[in-house]
Amino acid sequence: MIEKIEKLLQQVEAFTPQSAAELENFRIKILGKKGELNALMAEFKTVPAEQKRELGQLINRLKTAATERINTLREQLQDAADESASAIGDMTRPGSSEHIGSRHPISLVKNEIVEVFSRLGYTVAEGPEIEDDWHVFSALNFPPEHPARDMQDTFFVEKNPDILLRTHTSSIQVRTMEHQKPPIRVVCPGRVFRNEAISYRAHCIFHQLEGLYIDEGVSFADMKQSLQYFAKEIFGENTAIRMRPSYFPFTEPSAEVDVSCNLCGGKGCPVCKGTGWLEIMGCGMVDPNVLESNGIDSKKYSGFAFGMGIERIAMLKYGVKDLRLYFENDVRFLEQFNKAL
Ligand code: PHE
Repeated sequence: MIEKIEKLLQQVEAFTPQSAAELENFRIKILGKKGELNALMAEFKTVPAEQKRELGQLINRLKTAATERINTLREQLQDAADESASAIGDMTRPGSSEHIGSRHPISLVKNEIVEVFSRLGYTVAEGPEIEDDWHVFSALNFPPEHPARDMQDTFFVEKNPDILLRTHTSSIQVRTMEHQKPPIRVVCPGRVFRNEAISYRAHCIFHQLEGLYIDEGVSFADMKQSLQYFAKEIFGENTAIRMRPSYFPFTEPSAEVDVSCNLCGGKGCPVCKGTGWLEIMGCGMVDPNVLESNGIDSKKYSGFAFGMGIERIAMLKYGVKDLRLYFENDVRFLEQFNKAL
């Protein structure tokens, strides 16, 4: 009997349950009504009196050891359960939401302009930012050494003056003419690069959206009508446009397009410098030299082209006075345009 009790004592000390159910089964097995301890008590009654003292002490030791061990194990299991519950957290609490970003105002305006022209049948064309001289200048009627090349201060790739960062997205129009026959109707949005001092109204990196329309019988009147539609869609129904003569190597005649100032309604204010007009883009009839350089019969086809800075349109549309804000990535600034989504 002594041996049996000692074996049970060892079992009690070594027992490590994996679950509360396992612990409970163990408790019943040792301390339960039909458990080992009660069986020992029954047997105890039958042992000779001189053994009772020693055996009684042993049985008591087993009882205390089992009770204590079971209590400690129960606490340990409870602690482990609490811990894993707190790792998951309170399942009934409302979830924490992820911060959702907003579209950049330049993307918003770009998409809006693309959408307006897509209603007139234009599709979007894109091209590389690192270009060669042909696509940025030569194919667009800029002769070598011509001073017009200085109109756009260019970043060249060192050692190779033929490779440069595009100064306008007109290069995409050249690429379009290379592989597409008229009718051509494309808008070309993209990032452009000019070696200019950074200020509130200029940056060395900015975005342009240019357009090209070539077909039989395309006239200056068609251009004016399209650009007027664009201006009203972007700046509001009451917007008027005017055109002033200008010069670009790739268009003849060329013009600058102004819109009536949407802040003062044309009366004159600090934004339009008292003139009532704001300059928004350049445009013109595609020079026959450009058509011919790109394999298009200038006797059969004519076309117009236009180009604008997206930052400038966005500044005028949203009343932003400093162009640099668009590049600083201050989320507080950028998020304000969210509602325009
Ligand atoms: N490419 C000109 C520029 O970047 C804009 C323009 C495009 C002007 C098409 C006329 C026609 O300044």
